[in-house]
Amino acid sequence: MEKLVKLLEKELADAFETAGYDPALAKVTVSNRPDLCEYQCNGAMAGAKACHKPPLIIAQDVVAKLSGSDVLSDVEAVRPGFINFNVAGSFLADYLSGLLDDPRLGVAKNNVPKKLFMDYGGPNVAKPLHVGHLRSAIIGESIKRIARFMGDEVISDIHLGDWGLQMGLIITELHHRHPELPYFDESFEGDYPQEAPFTIAELEEIYPCASGKSKEDEAYRAEAMEATHQMQEGRRGYLALWKHILSVSVADLRKNYEKLDVSFDLWKGESDVQKYIPQMIDDMKAKGLAYEDAGALIVDVKDEKDAKEVPPCILLKSDGASLYTTTDLATLVERQKDYAPDEILYIVDKRQDLHFVQVFRCAKKAGIVPEETVLTFLGFGTMNGKDGKPFKTRDGGVMRLENLIREIEEEMFRKIVENKSVKDTDAGKTAQQVGLAAIKYGDLSNQATKDYVFDVDRFTSFEGNTGPYLLYTIVRIKSILARSARDGEADGAGAVLAPSVESEKALMLSLALFGQAMETAYQEKAPHKLCAYLYELSNAFNRFYHETKILTEEDLSRKASFLQLLHLSLRTLETGIDLLGFSAPDRM
Ligand code: ARG
Repeated sequence: MEKLVKLLEKELADAFETAGYDPALAKVTVSNRPDLCEYQCNGAMAGAKACHKPPLIIAQDVVAKLSGSDVLSDVEAVRPGFINFNVAGSFLADYLSGLLDDPRLGVAKNNVPKKLFMDYGGPNVAKPLHVGHLRSAIIGESIKRIARFMGDEVISDIHLGDWGLQMGLIITELHHRHPELPYFDESFEGDYPQEAPFTIAELEEIYPCASGKSKEDEAYRAEAMEATHQMQEGRRGYLALWKHILSVSVADLRKNYEKLDVSFDLWKGESDVQKYIPQMIDDMKAKGLAYEDAGALIVDVKDEKDAKEVPPCILLKSDGASLYTTTDLATLVERQKDYAPDEILYIVDKRQDLHFVQVFRCAKKAGIVPEETVLTFLGFGTMNGKDGKPFKTRDGGVMRLENLIREIEEEMFRKIVENKSVKDTDAGKTAQQVGLAAIKYGDLSNQATKDYVFDVDRFTSFEGNTGPYLLYTIVRIKSILARSARDGEADGAGAVLAPSVESEKALMLSLALFGQAMETAYQEKAPHKLCAYLYELSNAFNRFYHETKILTEEDLSRKASFLQLLHLSLRTLETGIDLLGFSAPDRM
């Protein structure tokens, strides 16, 4: 289906043309003065210079041609040259009847679908997930769903941090605790045990313990670095331990992401691409890009136009070790080879901005990806506590994701039980579902690049711009529709009628905007714009609900039309929240 504004533009373009003006001037936008009109066109102002006429005259000429329009109503030329107008009620009603039959609710697919590769999540194996990883997962999941809905082919990769110092730290700590294990015996030639020598709970305790020791004890740290190095060089026993750490940790990560309703097509990691490094480095040397500087191997990536200095990429340190940058470049080698995507999108903490500038420039310079491949860094801001500082636990530690989710769920559970709207046995499940909406919406409704305050009280509120408010609206609609079905009404049939009151029209106008809201959210990779739309739609629905007697309406065709508006509102809201990454219960 064509977007509503496009249809309005067509009507205006005809009027511009018959009045003797350029039809391309007929750009239409939602009015920024909703108290005056629903839509507006500023084309007369834009065209004044070329036409050598005052804009008001042009506007009046155009308006004169629109007097009999079936599409626009209340058309007015306003100083200094605005054309203000409303949408004709019956035209709007027909448009909504069309939406009822459209499985895509008026959202057109992307004209040229692209192959989009997404890198988000980015947890580090064996380290507990923390709130920083939460943002990447939530934002990435929503952008993925939006892009797929718009018709893109999307490949998502979690890109595990599984090759770093944390592995050496764990190996070292295990060595201290259990020196008798065969993994540490260099002369051991048999098969290592299938079973990991630790559980996830132990692993979670071992890492912070080892990390703490390494900060205080120089020798311990050197040991861990050596263990990391030996593992990376392929020491058999250490690789066997690495596999155990990976499998225990990944099993746990999968559970966590499942709970968040976040999924990935690929569970690749830093370790998977190490094999590309030697060849990649040879190529960069052969091209004359990589050279030695104070023992390290580097590539210059600065540009004359840089406002701030961009330091060179370090490919290899003086001890021959590769770095985060090297791994990200090697990852691009693999992604290009296996998928050759049109665009690769990274959703990572914005403090890694410079790293990605370096990686992208180096990859283009070295021809790892073609010039036309779009490399995008979507850097997100920090999630802060109410004190405005990065989110901490009560005792000042890094807040673990699990605990944060639990805190929200407990608060939700309390509210739901208080409301007595669901059976006690269902309250736990409902609290989980609503809690997830609270967390995800709380995050997504902010522009991703900005820092935001994680406020449990606000996020879990049933009122205001929150996830639970959207769910509450959905539950309300479901319950009215269920009552109408119980009454044996033949709902879901019949046409949408022209609106009879203002709140009804406002709801209809809002429903007609979904296509445009989705297009913007997709193009700008901005789930917060979809949130803003869904919030406005919910407000419009609730106002209509409070001002209208729906089920007791005596005019049956009017009542059927109301019910159609309810169906459309429900479908639009449910489609919208699914694209944000959560769902609604039947009651709450
Ligand atoms: N593991 C990294 C971290 O915790 C994030 C990885 C982001 N993706 C990437 N390709 N570098 O900071």
